[in-house]
Formats: sequence, C-alpha cells, structure tokens
Amino acid sequence: MTRPASAKVVGTGMYVPERVMTNADFTRIVDTNDEWIVQRTGMKERRLAENDQATSDLAYEACRRAMDDAGVAPDEIDLVICATITADNTLPATACWLQDRLGCTDAGAFDLTAACSGHIYSLAQARAAILSGQARTVLVTSAETLSKITDYADRSTCVLFGDGAGAAVVQACDEPDIGILYTTLYADGAGGSMMILPGGGSRQPTSRETLDGRLHYMHIRGREVFKFAVLKMQELIEECMKACDLTVDQVKMVVPHQVNTRIIDAATSRMGFPPEKVFLNIAKYGNTGGASVAMAHHEALAQGDIGPGDVAFLVAFGGGLTWAGAAIRH
Ligand code: ACO
Repeated sequence: MTRPASAKVVGTGMYVPERVMTNADFTRIVDTNDEWIVQRTGMKERRLAENDQATSDLAYEACRRAMDDAGVAPDEIDLVICATITADNTLPATACWLQDRLGCTDAGAFDLTAACSGHIYSLAQARAAILSGQARTVLVTSAETLSKITDYADRSTCVLFGDGAGAAVVQACDEPDIGILYTTLYADGAGGSMMILPGGGSRQPTSRETLDGRLHYMHIRGREVFKFAVLKMQELIEECMKACDLTVDQVKMVVPHQVNTRIIDAATSRMGFPPEKVFLNIAKYGNTGGASVAMAHHEALAQGDIGPGDVAFLVAFGGGLTWAGAAIRH
C-alpha cells in the first residue's frame, strides 16, 4: 500500500433552506429588536428548514454540489462522515441515509458529534483516514436543522440559530505541502452543561416532564461561553501559525465559526488579522452549528476570497465543550 503525500480538499458545496427569518420576524414572537440582535451578534437573517425537511435533506444537496465541484462519482467515495447534533434519527446514523441516497455504494458511513467544531473534527478524521491509506476519497458533510431544537419562547437563544449544510470532498494527493496541512482538536467535558440539550437521551429519556420542562431544546449559558470562546479561538489561530510556521501575511483568510461577530473580531484582531482577512457570512445565516465553518469555507472559495495556493485557517468552538482548528493550503 502506498501512502499519499497529502489530503486535499478537491470540492466544496453548501445548501440552505429557502425560508428566511429576519430580525424583524423575531420582534413578532419575543421581546427583542433588530438593533440588539445586530449589535450583540452581527446577525440579520437566518434560513429555517420546513417541517418536512430533515438534516439529511439539507446535507444531500450540499454533498451533491461538493461532489459535482470535485468531479467525483458516488462510487469513488470510500467514507461518508456527517457532523451533526440534529441527526434525522438517533438510529440509524444520518451519514447512512446519505450514503444510500447519494449512491456511495462502496463507502463506510458514520456520524460525528462535536457540535460547532464538527466540521473541523470531520476534516481531521478524513485526513487521518487518507494519510493512513484507509481511504482515498472522503465525503465530509456538516449539517444542522437547529431550528428543530431551538426554544422560540427564549429570546436569549432563539435569535442566534439557523439551518444549513456544507460539504467537502477530501482526496489523496501525491503533492506534498498542499491540502490539509495541520489539524488540532480539543475538548473539555467539564463545561458540558454550558451548551446542552438535556432531554431525550439516556440520562433523561423523553417523558411528559421533559417536554413540559422544555428540556428537548438547547439550553445555553451564552455569557459564560463568550470569554472562553474568544480565548480558544485566539489560541487555535496562534497554534496553526506556529505549527505551520506562517505569519499573518502568509495566511490569506481566517474562516471562523460564525458564532458572534464580537467573539470573532476580538479573537482575530488580537492575533493581528485585519477584518479583510476574516471571512464573515453570519449576517445572512446566523449560527448554523457544525455547518457554519463548512458553509463559510465554501462561500470563501466560491467568491474567490481563497484561491489556488492560498492558506486558510478554519477555527471553531462549540458544545462539548469542543474546539478545533485546521490549516489548509488550496
Ligand atoms: N433581545 C433583546 N434583549 C435580549 C435578548 C434579545 N434577543 N437576549 C437577551 N437579552 C437581554 C438580556 O436579558 C440582558 O438583559 P439584562 O441586562 O436586563 O439582564 C441583556 O440583553 C444582556 O444579555 P447578555 O446575555 O449579557 O448579552 P451578551 O452581550 O452576552 O450577548 C449572546 C448574548 C449574544 C448570547 C452572547 O453572550 C454570545 O454570543 N455568547 C456566545 C454565543 C453562544 O453561546 N452561542 C451558542 C453556541 S452553541 C452552538 O453554537 C450550537
């Protein structure tokens, strides 16, 4: 078995549902206003799935687009990884629904749970599978229908989230120093309760009490998350720069989890990155969990903000707690 020199992102895609929810729409259901949401988060609108749209429906569209972009046929895919916290079902894996629907007949498939860090965790698994010779072509998708686990009676969380899917095809490459150069993954389960969906699992199976207590929705202590998120995003950027021996000038773009413009601005400016080197699409989509970095990476490539030879850093922070970074030369 010959092992490849690198694992390269050869295609990306994304999909968002058509239904738009604006800040003004929220003023009709909770006590909020456009000014508060824009100033505190940078969000203006987000996309919401229809009742009959599941996470795999969004992921399917994103995957097809990524495979078209890569020029890869379904039977060339060796592995399908779906990062999500809003799986279609607990059993089976959403990745298995996708594997079947996409016609990836020769692929293994599994879901990965790392919340908003899910896409970078998945890219790390794809790279490892390729560099070890286990797979040649890996389809990675990060997809969420967060609207299905959002409490629309809680103004402090409901304005933050949207639905969407991103996907990337990662393939073995014989050129060194290209593709996914470096990945780094972290977790701190001691902070698990900061972002939690308490009901419906084996700890508190669904019951009348869990439904009455609204425990089937995300519960988030946003103020506590804020400082930690700034620090970790900053550390991830610093680590990627050191590990790849790169200066700010040599990095074309930081593609952060679209969690909050204030968190992103604080972390990137402290690391010396000017706003034009930081990709933002949070105003259009809000926080789409694991899909956020995948969608942002796709849009940055599609718009030409990242081109051939350019290095981008992907950084994310989320429930778990988890945080992760990746350096990619395109
Ligand atoms: N509209 C108007 N006022 C609001 C709203 C709203 N939608 N939500 C909260 N407020 C009020 C609060 O009640 C509070 O009022 P008070 O001072 O009278 O008590 C005031 O605004 C300030 O609230 P804070 O929570 O201190 O506001 P903050 O500046 O911290 O912003 C936010 C809140 C946006 C959630 C911020 O803390 C944040 O982005 N945190 C991290 C993000 C996060 O956790 N995201 C989820 C990650 S999980 C995942 O990605 C899947």
